[in-house]
Amino acid sequence: MPEQLAWSQACENNKGPILEVLRRWLPATGDVLEIGAGTGQHAIFFAQQLPGIRWQPTDRPGTLDTVAARVRLAGLANLAPPEPLDLHRWSREALGPVDAVFSANTAHIVDWAGVQALFAGVAGVLRPGGVFLLYGPFAYGGQHTAPSNARFHQTLRAQDPASGIRDVDDLRRLGEARGLILAEDVAMPANNRTLVWQLGQSRAGDTAARSTRLSR
Ligand SMILES: C[S@@+](CC[C@H](N)C(=O)[O-])C[C@H]1O[C@@H](n2cnc3c(N)ncnc32)[C@H](O)[C@@H]1O
Repeated sequence: MPEQLAWSQACENNKGPILEVLRRWLPATGDVLEIGAGTGQHAIFFAQQLPGIRWQPTDRPGTLDTVAARVRLAGLANLAPPEPLDLHRWSREALGPVDAVFSANTAHIVDWAGVQALFAGVAGVLRPGGVFLLYGPFAYGGQHTAPSNARFHQTLRAQDPASGIRDVDDLRRLGEARGLILAEDVAMPANNRTLVWQLGQSRAGDTAARSTRLSR
């Protein structure tokens, strides 16, 4: 891999644990759309490890050079060249329908309108029963899960007051309004989580039943 390509140690650290969650939730064959692919390391690794999955990385227009170069070098039949997708201006129909959407470390970067647009876009692009896997740091009931996450939140807010670690309670309401039910909440290394949302019928009884499955 040429050295000039941007590279993330965090991706190397978290890709194995995320893969275990993907293996449990993805169908053997199907389409996955990735939002905010960044360096493309996740896209390459997951496409290599999940050969039945067609992986479509995306990121904001103008930020695709690194992921495009990595995709070219990888030469994987099931990994598509990256498409531009700004989640504030998501043309859902152009990229779907898909069996799953994956996004890592984006919900705390974009503003709240962006998070709302993310959930709306995901609900629009998923096939019925499809899943949305959202990785990153999250808070619960207004509380951070670790002092390092509290510090990270303050750093994000200092850089951009509209950014910051999101509360799972807020995301759960957002999801349920779009028919996305939080089906699993998996602890990840370094105080991160993978939240697994499933598109289905949003009924109060379903929500109560599924909440007992949360692993936190
Ligand atoms: C912290 S990086 C995470 C990158 C990668 N997913 C990872 O885990 O290393 C945040 C990503 O969100 C993308 N992003 C920021 N604003 C976005 C937007 N409005 N629409 C789509 N992607 C966005 C950035 O370009 C960047 O790739």
